[in-house]
Amino acid sequence: MMEFGVMFGSVIVLCVLAIIAFLSMKFLQKNSGPKPLSVNYHFTRQCNYQCGFCFHTAKTSFVLPISEAKRGLKMLKEAGMKKINFSGGEPFIKDDGQYVGKLVRYCKQSLKLPSVTIVSNGSLITEDWFQEFGEFLDILAISCDSFDEPTNRVIGRHQNKKHHLSSLTCVRDWCKEYRVAFKINTVVNTHNCDEDMSQEILDLDPVRWKVFQCLLIGGENTGPDAIRHAESFVISEEMFEKFVQRHKSVPQLVPESNTAMKDSYLILDEYMRFLDCTKGKKDPSKSILDVGVQEAIKFSGFDEAMFKKRGGRYVWSKADMKLDW
Ligand SMILES: C[S@@+](CC[C@H](N)C(=O)[O-])C[C@H]1O[C@@H](n2cnc3c(N)ncnc32)[C@H](O)[C@@H]1O
Ligand code: SF4
Repeated sequence: MMEFGVMFGSVIVLCVLAIIAFLSMKFLQKNSGPKPLSVNYHFTRQCNYQCGFCFHTAKTSFVLPISEAKRGLKMLKEAGMKKINFSGGEPFIKDDGQYVGKLVRYCKQSLKLPSVTIVSNGSLITEDWFQEFGEFLDILAISCDSFDEPTNRVIGRHQNKKHHLSSLTCVRDWCKEYRVAFKINTVVNTHNCDEDMSQEILDLDPVRWKVFQCLLIGGENTGPDAIRHAESFVISEEMFEKFVQRHKSVPQLVPESNTAMKDSYLILDEYMRFLDCTKGKKDPSKSILDVGVQEAIKFSGFDEAMFKKRGGRYVWSKADMKLDW
């Protein structure tokens, strides 16, 4: 009887200790902020296009010295980053693509990140760039909102006489030749929402086709201090759903409504500050270079659950993709 009492007491003590350990872990997780598993670094705001709906506009011309950008990337890797996406502005505008190329090589070769990706409008990329840096890049996403050139012009996705669609096909061919996984991003807005892009997307055969509902962000593409005014580009959830349904036979389709998109990305701006979009505008944290990743990320507004729900974690290393090059 005595032995049973001691055993019962021990079980109770163990249970209490386990509950305390679990609660402490949850408390620590909550107070240390989310892990920066997948980060989007918008290192420049400059761009050669003028898309009317753009939500990351040329409010500054600042770009970090490359040594500082590398220092920040190393800090992110030490904090748990597995995927980095370079974005902008237009990432290939800085030093003819050399800046982003050197960061891509640093992230793959020195930091050994499983996934290094870029999202670009495609117009400034050259074959020389692929020859020098292609091997270090996992995925290149090119934005294409329409296969009708006049529609691209109305949207502002063009530069002078350059045809956006010829840049797109050139880059697709180089991706195949230099073994970089090719992806397409589309923003559904009032000018393309009735289009059927299925056949052209099937022909281009990207590994993934991200389709976004046009999003408004205060201070970027809406409001008095904004450079762009994208209200006339915005479509309803129903119009977005109609576009998605029209393309449901495209296997690579990954739709993202405003709700799924708004807070599910960890965004770093040109000063390496996390941008919190929860209030409908981009509120910056302090720079990770000044206060460290753990402190800055508490002010990122990142919704980790929505990141998981929208499929933010996918096969993102080209080594793990079964690609027929
Ligand atoms: C800001 S851009 C920067 C990279 C590059 N200049 C480009 O256009 O691909 C990053 C991605 O955001 C998308 N995007 C821009 N404005 C948007 C908006 N208002 N709503 C949803 N996506 C948007 C672009 O089409 C692109 O795929
Ligand atoms: S969405 Fe258009 S304007 Fe904005 S950064 Fe990309 S290409 Fe430039």
